[in-house]
Amino acid sequence: MFFGARARQRGTRAPLALGAGLAGLTVVGPALAGAPPKVGPPMQTGPENTLGGLSDSEIWGAIRHEAFGIATSQRPEDGVLIDADGWWWTELRMPSGPLVQGAIWFLLIVILAILLFAIVRGRIRLEGGRAGIRIPRFSLTQRVVHWTVAALFIIMALSGLVILFGRPLLIPVFGHGATSVMASAAMQAHNLMGPVFAVSILTLFATFLPGNLPSQDDIGWILKGGGLFGGHPHAGRYNAGEKAWFWTATLAGVVLSVSGILMLFPDNLAPWVAELAYGFPRARDLLHLAEIGHVVAAVIMIGFALGHIYLGTYGNEGAFEGMVDGTVDLNWAREHHDLWAGEMSGGSAGTGAAAEPAE
Ligand code: HEM
Repeated sequence: MFFGARARQRGTRAPLALGAGLAGLTVVGPALAGAPPKVGPPMQTGPENTLGGLSDSEIWGAIRHEAFGIATSQRPEDGVLIDADGWWWTELRMPSGPLVQGAIWFLLIVILAILLFAIVRGRIRLEGGRAGIRIPRFSLTQRVVHWTVAALFIIMALSGLVILFGRPLLIPVFGHGATSVMASAAMQAHNLMGPVFAVSILTLFATFLPGNLPSQDDIGWILKGGGLFGGHPHAGRYNAGEKAWFWTATLAGVVLSVSGILMLFPDNLAPWVAELAYGFPRARDLLHLAEIGHVVAAVIMIGFALGHIYLGTYGNEGAFEGMVDGTVDLNWAREHHDLWAGEMSGGSAGTGAAAEPAE
């Protein structure tokens, strides 16, 4: 319930004190910028007034410019009906705004770049054919963790894209009714699976950290464009491209998880974190930042994931089987991860004996 109001201008807080009861409002200070203070007897000056005083437009104008008053909730910002500082946010987040449009263009460019790569480079085939000798690459634990994260990621990405692009892309195609059904299902899935995804990303990080730390060979791999120019570069267990994906997925996953959890609990967790951050429990600014970080991290991660999925399936012959049965052909290992293949050959590769995959 909004009992009284105090308007504030941007920059200076103009003390408009509207002492208001249920029956009306009394103005005891200057109203909006430049407006003379209006004082009217209580009971006569509400929106329902019949005896003159504040008009509806003045009252709603004050509210529109961030008037705040006393609310039954104790937190200061709960008395603000309309957050005028949030207009920049509305403009940023609206379907035609830079956040949504930027996301659409970024993903379109990534898809085009992958298509171009597929056409120009074609499928990366095994140059020496198959050796017919399998070497272990991923343990069962690694595969279960990988596919669990992948499944959760696909649910989160698809539901998130429905929420982000519902208005500009889905309503024109499916109409309001069908889009609203999809959007509410997407929101439920997103909210429910978000915390599970957060835990899964941390598990992925712990599982795949060995082998993903930067090393000298990464420089050579990058200089040779991953093999696009200058022949096959040396690579250990993971090449620089895979390491970039690992760290992007981890960092973006952490940003997504932290910002997502803040947005999941806007009324209790966010004001508490805002108090810690700015000494004032105003959660709105923090939630704006959280949403921007969430969208940017999500779009970067989805873009990178599209490239990873392409290379992990059709794009790189022989890679997918490693994540399915846990083994790869020796020639695939030699062509893409020669240093690792060398280490494995020292143990088992070439003999067919079962070496343990690196955890
Ligand atoms: C359906 C989608 C996906 C497919 C088909 C796929 C496929 C693969 C394949 C084939 C590999 C093995 C590459 C190698 O042997 O070097 C792999 C590795 C890996 N994938 Fe995926 N993946 C998918 C989704 C994801 C997602 C969503 C994530 C993370 C959020 C992810 C994270 C990783 C990581 C961390 C590795 C280990 C290599 C590295 O550290 O970069 N994958 N994936």
